[in-house]
Amino acid sequence: MDKIRVRGGARLSGQVRVSGSKNASLPILAACLLVDGPTVLEGVPRLEDVRNMCHILEHLGVVHEWLPDGSLRVEVVDDRNVHAPYHYVRTMRASFCLLGPLWARRGRAQVSHPGGCVFGHRPIDLHLKGMRALGADIRIDKGDVHASGPVRGGRVYLGSNFGSTVLGTANTLMAACLAEGETVIEYAAQEPEIADLCRFLRACGARIEGIGTHRLHIRGVPKLRGCRYRVINDRIEAGTLLAAGVLTGGEVEVLGAEPDHLSAFLDALERAGARFEIGFREPGDGAGAELGAELPGLVEARPPRVSREGRALRLPRTGEQGGRLLTDRIFYEDERRVGDGPGEEGIPFLRTLPMDPEELEATDVATMPYPGFPTDLQAQFMALMLVAKGVSVITEKIYPERFIHVSELARLGARIRREGPCAIVQGGRELCGATVMASDLRASAALILAGLVARGTTAIRRVYHLDRGYESLDRKLAALGADIVRLKEV
Ligand code: EPU
Repeated sequence: MDKIRVRGGARLSGQVRVSGSKNASLPILAACLLVDGPTVLEGVPRLEDVRNMCHILEHLGVVHEWLPDGSLRVEVVDDRNVHAPYHYVRTMRASFCLLGPLWARRGRAQVSHPGGCVFGHRPIDLHLKGMRALGADIRIDKGDVHASGPVRGGRVYLGSNFGSTVLGTANTLMAACLAEGETVIEYAAQEPEIADLCRFLRACGARIEGIGTHRLHIRGVPKLRGCRYRVINDRIEAGTLLAAGVLTGGEVEVLGAEPDHLSAFLDALERAGARFEIGFREPGDGAGAELGAELPGLVEARPPRVSREGRALRLPRTGEQGGRLLTDRIFYEDERRVGDGPGEEGIPFLRTLPMDPEELEATDVATMPYPGFPTDLQAQFMALMLVAKGVSVITEKIYPERFIHVSELARLGARIRREGPCAIVQGGRELCGATVMASDLRASAALILAGLVARGTTAIRRVYHLDRGYESLDRKLAALGADIVRLKEV
């Protein structure tokens, strides 16, 4: 098992590239079950959760291959198996979103109930509500959820006391694509990862309207065809790297960070007095030489492939790969990436500007579904508030128990008090390095961030949590000048 050792005090600087989004890639990989013929996905990050998803898919008759250009080729070769068992699903909750596509494409699905997780109760009632609205006969037997029956369009409201559900929307949406008739999902999740899934499905031939809104309208089609598609960049990794820049008072350019996907986080940074700027880089304008570009699986330096006037662009034929010809398909891009006029296409970036981090002001945040402040950046923002002047209140409205990092941060000398779904952070205290335990993905990132500013050495154990969801975060930080190494634990 690896651990990460960080020596605090370095001011980070340089340019670093954001990887493709984990939480966009996972449902898109699940959606490949719906598709006939090969699909080539660009920008899929090489991290543990992706490898896990590929293993489960393999078990379900889907072969995959990493191509020399870093893209991932996926194809269903055997559609007989409908069972995703516990030993796969327990490693990764996201695999529960195999239920919808398995049922819709193979007529039946048996997916292990994912159970709870370290940040508390995580129900699946809305996933099941979505499936039932499409006519599924749902049964829970020996820990597995069984879905069967014909898939028919329906209308369903997928909201809960906590707002919308990301993977519940993904599950329902994927099944609806092959349903007979029309489906309306009210209070659908608006997260960019859901919009990306919709665009992928549309590129495969699905008929979806309302992308990026709370109301998705899907007209079922009999078949979907594989395509070539590029997933969006990881907004949570981008936010984590920005936090590292702000926390160390450094000048860090996060290339590929999409400002529109981070507006609540950027607003919180602004309120805290952090200095940063937003921009676009033209190809060849320093992009490509940036730190991290040599890492495996990272997005290549090139402009987003969008036409200036339209929203879609035909890709060249991929040609012969693995003995089969891939068809060229329409490639949809995020409309917001299209510039207002000629010459405005480019790679977006966010850059932190040098400042004294002790000048940061305590700032309250409350997590909410998109476009609100993301729960997946709550722990990292807390690390930032440890150095800010004053008392901040961080309220977790999505997962009220997602505070396991609090007691580990306390080991570094942080003073944080829990009050129900709130954490009250006393900022401005000096942190002092210690051995801490990573308990989940985002908590691991927060511990690394705190280690960057703690006096002395912080050792973060159980970093496999980090590897599940960040592509080479330690290497990227090291390339920016952090004193950080990965060591084998004996
Ligand atoms: N909820 C229900 N019933 C359901 C499903 C969800 O009440 O059937 C509640 C949850 O308990 C929670 C809220 O709805 O209070 C939102 O949960 P959601 O379903 O949106 O979470 P998820 O889809 O299981 C995804 C991400 C998480 C991220 C959440 C919230 C993936 C693979 N996972 O989970 O990412 O925290 O959305 O944005 O996309 C991470 O990357 O570290 C991570 C945990």
